[in-house]
Amino acid sequence: MARPVNPSQSESDVNLTPRRVQWQRSHLDDATRALLERDSAVFMHQSVSTPCLSAIRRADGIWIEDTAGRRYMDFHGNNVHHLGHAHPEVVSAIKAQLDALCFAPRRFACDRAVELAEALSAKFERLTGSPGRILFTTGGSDAVEVAIKLARAATGRFKTLSFWDAFHGAGFGASSVGGESLFRSGALGPLLPGAEHVAPFGCYRCPYGHAVDDQGRPYLDQCRLACAGMVRYVLEREGDVAAVIAEPARAVPFVPPPGYWKQVREACHAHGTLLIFDEIPTGLGKTGRFFAAEHDDVAPDIVVLGKSLGGGVLPLAACVARSDLNVAGAFALGHYTHEKNPVSSAAALATLRVIERDGLVEHAARLGAYALERMHDMRDRHPIVGDVRGRGLLLGMELVRDRSTREPARDAAEAVLYDALSRGLSFKTTMGNVLTLTPPLITSVQDMDSALNILEKCLKEACRTG
Ligand SMILES: Cc1ncc(COP(=O)(O)O)c(C=O)c1O
Repeated sequence: MARPVNPSQSESDVNLTPRRVQWQRSHLDDATRALLERDSAVFMHQSVSTPCLSAIRRADGIWIEDTAGRRYMDFHGNNVHHLGHAHPEVVSAIKAQLDALCFAPRRFACDRAVELAEALSAKFERLTGSPGRILFTTGGSDAVEVAIKLARAATGRFKTLSFWDAFHGAGFGASSVGGESLFRSGALGPLLPGAEHVAPFGCYRCPYGHAVDDQGRPYLDQCRLACAGMVRYVLEREGDVAAVIAEPARAVPFVPPPGYWKQVREACHAHGTLLIFDEIPTGLGKTGRFFAAEHDDVAPDIVVLGKSLGGGVLPLAACVARSDLNVAGAFALGHYTHEKNPVSSAAALATLRVIERDGLVEHAARLGAYALERMHDMRDRHPIVGDVRGRGLLLGMELVRDRSTREPARDAAEAVLYDALSRGLSFKTTMGNVLTLTPPLITSVQDMDSALNILEKCLKEACRTG
């Protein structure tokens, strides 16, 4: 019997539904349709990726332009576009590096790669108190693999504990610690042994059945952080878990209840388990702190970065570990062809420079707080909005059919998504009914206002027709 596919956090605007077909009918021109057909004919079809919804011609700052000339504010951007698309300083750093040195074959140290590793080591030291040891990879999934291998090598154990519903990448190790049925299909055969899962935090939909107040906050005196308690319970029962791996703030989004990570950190210490934070979407300031972990005042042993690290132009990810975890000198953890690539390193160095110089982390914190306030205000006026939550520019609005039952309003969420696209705003839905907005860190207050005005119009329309 086929396994049912659960709502997923990787879900997006490409779900094949009648509404999508209708949207394409009214928005695509002949040239776009022809390109989509060629795309669909040549790429392997897979869920949430191919076939595509539309086709892109240009991307610049917070804007995307499709091949029919429509422009969209990109509040999705796969979380690579912290600096917006095609940031001029990133592009010119890449061009200059192409003229200087394109590639570093193995055996040769490369100044740009060393400079970047030193910069990330210093950031990691500010977070954890330990300098970082780095390995670069081309994609986030590969960096997750490195982190898992390192945790195994350092602890002499092979088990991991991670969250159901999480996404950590598409490789076998990353799919094993991931918790989305989309990436764990039985058709792929067995995943890694010892990859244990636990229900994640997620107060508005607490998997342990605990109540929240009318603002979606947990009653900590009642729930006593049952979600963190379960992590401790599993670590204790298993007794030999190498690492807990998780996103410090879940991409759905869900922010952790206060004290969650401190309890998990203590449990990890107590059981000799390493704590790996996957900060691939949240790192480099998305949540209003350079690392999302800073919100919870918790020091992980290993951090994985990616996505925006390549400036939204080049693929680059990193596994950054405590310096005393440098234990695998006798064998290979990564050994990726592009692990010391000067061009992607130059893109990352330019990205870090711009983020720091322009105060983008602080801007993300301020703009995110402002956006959340406006979204809460929408919640006060539109009963379809069940919950609003987020950190920095990782923002979510959960639509429900009825606030008391919290039944997900999936149809309305899809209607809002396509209506917003028609009005020039692109974002994704997660879990079927959560409007997930992840604007770039360069978004201005005016652009945020325009986007939220569009969102509000779409909500009104959904309430009127729904
Ligand atoms: C939390 C998280 N981890 C890992 C990955 C995988 O990164 P990549 O697509 O670069 O392999 C993603 C990508 O969406 C992600 O969101």
